[in-house]
Amino acid sequence: MFTHDPKFWRAGAISSITVMVAVLIFLTVDSLDAMQAGGRNVPPYTVINQQIGYRYDDDRGGWVPTIGATELLFGKKYSADEAEALLHQGKLVIQSRACMDCHTFFGNGAYFAPDLTKAWLDPAWHNVWIPFTQKPDRAKAMVAFLMHPEKYATWNRKMPDLNLSEDEARATVAYLKWLSSIDTNGFPNAFGHATPQ
Ligand code: HEC
Repeated sequence: MFTHDPKFWRAGAISSITVMVAVLIFLTVDSLDAMQAGGRNVPPYTVINQQIGYRYDDDRGGWVPTIGATELLFGKKYSADEAEALLHQGKLVIQSRACMDCHTFFGNGAYFAPDLTKAWLDPAWHNVWIPFTQKPDRAKAMVAFLMHPEKYATWNRKMPDLNLSEDEARATVAYLKWLSSIDTNGFPNAFGHATPQ
């Protein structure tokens, strides 16, 4: 019987390992392509120079971010290097203030306060915070809120003042804008009500 021959099992082990290694390499390359900035699902950092919207895609049966015309952030057009440096600063602010102690990103973190993945697209910036802060646009209203969350509180749970400087708040807003452009396959669901803007 061939099953009594150790060579049969050796050949079987070698060929399955070879196939699995090939599959792993393919999946790694494919995931990196989807996850990296500038990859399939994640726009490059310079997307902060453009308008980001959200629309329901009938074919996919879910919400997808849209990238539109130029919409400068704080009146400035960021080069690729400048955008990367700004978003890096934003990420450090978010890490150093432990925003995830209360919030989630992509569903990871604490469930005390709203998920921030699509915070930039929250209609509340236009409907509530622009009038409340009396700022001319969403980015500036977000900076005002992040610097003085207790003053501009809209909820029974309050966000504490985390002593963000204006630069830090701007970098955080840029980070949140970039984040909102990522195709998250419709996550989080609650943002289904957001209207494209
Ligand atoms: C101690 C808990 C806590 C921490 C830490 C915290 N937040 Fe918040 N955050 C809240 C709460 C509560 C709200 C809702 C406040 C309101 O609506 O008045 C909120 C609201 C927000 C909103 C508005 C979300 C929306 O779409 O309505 C943003 C943006 C935000 N936080 C960003 C941040 C960032 C960035 C950090 C870290 C630098 C941070 N938060 C840290 C509790 C927290």
